[in-house]
Amino acid sequence: MLSKSLRLDPRKRQLFTLIPYLKKYQAKLIIGATMVLLTNIVAVVSPWILRNAIDRLYLDISRDILLYYASLLIAASAVEGLFRFLMRRILIGVSRNIEYDLRNDLFSHLLSLSPSFYQRNPTGDIMSRATNDLSAVRMVLGPGIMYSINTLFTAVLTISILVTLNLQLAILTLLPLLAVSVCVKYFGNQIHQRFERIQEQFATLTTLAQENVSGIRVVKAYNQEEAFIGRFQEANQDYVDRSLSLVRVWGVFNPLLTFLLGLSSVGLLWYGGRQVIQGSMTVGDFVAFMAYLSMLTWPTIALGWVINIFERGSASMGRMNQIFQSRPEIRDESSSTLSTLEGHIQVKNLTFSYNGAPVLKNVSFEIPAGQTLAIVGRTGSGKSTLVNLLCRLYQVPEAGIFIDGSDINNIPLETLRTHIGYVPQETFLFSETVQQNIAFGRPEASLQSIQESAKISNIWPDIQEFPRKFETFVGERGITLSGGQKQRIAISRALLVNPRILILDDALSSVDTDTEEKILQGLAGEFTNRTVILISHRISTVKMADQILVLEKGEIVERGTHDELLKTEGHYATLYERQLLKKELGVE
Ligand SMILES: Nc1ncnc2c1ncn2[C@@H]1O[C@H](COP(=O)(O)OP(=O)(O)OP(=O)(O)O)[C@@H](O)[C@H]1O
Ligand SMILES: [Mg+2]
Repeated sequence: MLSKSLRLDPRKRQLFTLIPYLKKYQAKLIIGATMVLLTNIVAVVSPWILRNAIDRLYLDISRDILLYYASLLIAASAVEGLFRFLMRRILIGVSRNIEYDLRNDLFSHLLSLSPSFYQRNPTGDIMSRATNDLSAVRMVLGPGIMYSINTLFTAVLTISILVTLNLQLAILTLLPLLAVSVCVKYFGNQIHQRFERIQEQFATLTTLAQENVSGIRVVKAYNQEEAFIGRFQEANQDYVDRSLSLVRVWGVFNPLLTFLLGLSSVGLLWYGGRQVIQGSMTVGDFVAFMAYLSMLTWPTIALGWVINIFERGSASMGRMNQIFQSRPEIRDESSSTLSTLEGHIQVKNLTFSYNGAPVLKNVSFEIPAGQTLAIVGRTGSGKSTLVNLLCRLYQVPEAGIFIDGSDINNIPLETLRTHIGYVPQETFLFSETVQQNIAFGRPEASLQSIQESAKISNIWPDIQEFPRKFETFVGERGITLSGGQKQRIAISRALLVNPRILILDDALSSVDTDTEEKILQGLAGEFTNRTVILISHRISTVKMADQILVLEKGEIVERGTHDELLKTEGHYATLYERQLLKKELGVE
């Protein structure tokens, strides 16, 4: 679920979000509404023609006259059909346009949000808001708006005609319709609440499915298919139950409307029929009255349907608004126009916690521009956290990190991120070609520079063996790469942006020591003219660094060069000896 801190506005307001979107298509909406009006005007003509035709039956009837009325009726319905077509075409078209705008806005808003948002909110939940809820909102924009306008015009036109035709009869037959509005109010609330619960459950279901599909290997390896199928069935059952609870309300609501409409017809037959018998009403008037009354049937039923659409739409819009109202935690707040960085990093008394106990405690160090810093330390000691902060992926405490003397919070995000090449601990490749993956940060890069960076990270020989070399698709649509291959592609990706600051978070963990050796040789040239931060569990990776930090439970416990640290005979020296021993024993 999206975090509870996001309070829902009162439900009626949810759809206000759509106002700016509707304004954009104001002109089209007005034309569309005009078409609705024209459709209705033409529609009320037909019963009138029928009335005249029937009354003529009692006077002088001939084949020609019948033919005349018949052609009038045909012409009227043809014109009505044309207007109805235009009305749908224009109004439904607008709803598709707004849906397109909304979807784009939602997507770009999602991309602006910080990683912490995605930590709080399951992917499946976000997905269901972006798809299922969006279509519920689209229904408001299309059929919702179209049928509301239509109902309004039809009601106004036909009711005025009914009143003119026969006031008493009109009052009698329209009374039951008044009861409709009472029902609508009661049922509207019910529909809204139940639909909200359905959408919530759908999100849970999507999350469950998405996590199982993504984690299929783990599910299978632990033989948990049955268990998860069971859990899915439970959630699915809950979804069905919730849907059925809506169906029940809807199932009572609809027949109730039909019943009230039926009462109308009873009134017409009883009172109108008597007037015809007494001769105070012509048969033509009676037939026309009946036709007009039946023209109200559909809008009345549609009214219920439209209410349903609006209730669902506002529940869904509320769920989308929660996303729209989430603000990126990390934003550019300073007016600095700094556009280049040298790469001189200072970390001063940095203490940081995600939410609770500090993960980094009083960390201070300095890396002169162009030097290499290595960080070693046990798992969970805060290494990745530290470099995430250097990329400002999380909120950095004031005066904790400085680059070229500026507080990192005052450096424009774009400047910061274009100057950092970051290979995260968990590599992510897109379902695109190898080439597109490497060129991710610089899509315009020349093939030559892409190949160059592939050589440095030593992925080049592997690519030569891929079926379509650089054009090979990876991921779901293509070949599956090994962990080490993915890491090397990620390194090439980072190198290609030619960053001032290069951060490798355990980026060589999945390759063997020989390959590591080759990659390091390749990288050596890259390290000379930029600031590098290397995180590793292997001494072999870090020993050439200008400075090595040993992190332990968020604190720096040792620092110095390889040789200095060996002399200290502390954690680092122990780690070194252990790894040396392993190497000699040939464990690695
Ligand atoms: N996004 C997060 N939200 C909350 N806690 C986190 C988050 N990321 C990491 N932690 C916690 O912070 C601590 C440090 O994690 P971090 O990933 O920085 O360790 P690390 O040194 O990189 O470990 P490893 O060597 O296993 O990669 C851990 O206790 C971890 O549980
Ligand atoms: Mg880590």
